[in-house]
Amino acid sequence: MTIEEMQKKFSEVFGDGEASGSYFSPGRVNLIGEHTDYNGGHVFPCALTIGTYAVAKKRTDDRLRFYSANVEKTGVVECSVKDIEYSDAYGWANYPIGVVWALQTKWGKTFDSGFDMLIWGDIPNGSGLSSSASLEVLTGCVARDLFGFSGLTNQDLALIGQYSENNFNGMNCGIMDQFAVAMGKKDCAIFLDTADLSFEYAPIRLDGAKIVIVNSKVKHSLVDSEYNKRRQECTHALQQLQTVVDIKALGDLDDETFDKYASVITDETERKRAHHAVYENQRTIRAVAELKKNHIEEFGRLMNETHVSLRDDYETSCPECDVLAELAWSVPGCVGSRITGGGFGGCTVSIVKDEALDAFKETITKGYEEKVGKTPEIYVVEIGDGAGKIG
Ligand code: GLA
Repeated sequence: MTIEEMQKKFSEVFGDGEASGSYFSPGRVNLIGEHTDYNGGHVFPCALTIGTYAVAKKRTDDRLRFYSANVEKTGVVECSVKDIEYSDAYGWANYPIGVVWALQTKWGKTFDSGFDMLIWGDIPNGSGLSSSASLEVLTGCVARDLFGFSGLTNQDLALIGQYSENNFNGMNCGIMDQFAVAMGKKDCAIFLDTADLSFEYAPIRLDGAKIVIVNSKVKHSLVDSEYNKRRQECTHALQQLQTVVDIKALGDLDDETFDKYASVITDETERKRAHHAVYENQRTIRAVAELKKNHIEEFGRLMNETHVSLRDDYETSCPECDVLAELAWSVPGCVGSRITGGGFGGCTVSIVKDEALDAFKETITKGYEEKVGKTPEIYVVEIGDGAGKIG
């Protein structure tokens, strides 16, 4: 949908002329550093050129009205800007509503009226490419612009998005997704230390190779509860480690120190979770160093290790994504491949040499159809900029 088409729809749906501004917020893919962001570790995501668009306008009364051109059957979701509460009836709109709530209750911002917001996006639904973080940061951009909250930086918008997702939507996510979406930079990945939010942009120069995302088109149930459970398991493992070693987070440990003290974690499952968190963090630091030296093959090999660790130790992969990763590993010229994001379905991310792209697509499509009975979606993606006003 173009912005012009969105404007037309906005007038039709809300009946108050055209919107006053248009905004874009990307999706993200994480190259390496999975389930490390709530363990004080490093991540290496990048913003994509696909994402969520909004057109919006202030109202004169207290109404907040949201409409998604992707799920038209839901119609307009509406509530007052005052005394906001979560409601199952709001469905997807709990994300934007939660951001308005967070801005008021946590950031002390005053809304002197409500607003109308129409969205449309091209992030495939439930694919693990952060459509919810994209929508949260997008809402932050809209509110900042319409209500003159000019003191808010994009990094603030990331924190607001995460706060609302944690406390309004009940998903205890880390900061990676919102940070990547808000702070992304064209052709760069963000090497972020989640312990203190220090970061650097690392140019991605994959000479003769592309980033390819494959959508398994499955999403297993209980994703949020399983995710929250992993967090608890890591917290418990950390508490036990803290009885023998002075650390604030699992990300403070290197592999050797973890191995030395791991036996203090009594539960085997929790030990495996902590093993992943520690090794994945170290692997991410190594992977970025290799990439800076243009050692793409080594970077890809570390991506493969990540998949195995997520599959066996962290248990956030799923049979369908294991099939995708194994098929990718069998293609000569596929440098590395792994499940990306929170897990339990969604997408794999792969680095594929240009000359191997056709073979990659064919092997993945045929193999996945045979083994899983579904046709996967394959996107060769570009790294784009973070969220902002576009018109
Ligand atoms: C989800 C969360 C992120 C991060 C990833 C796993 O995408 O929203 O904060 O924890 O899972 O790396």
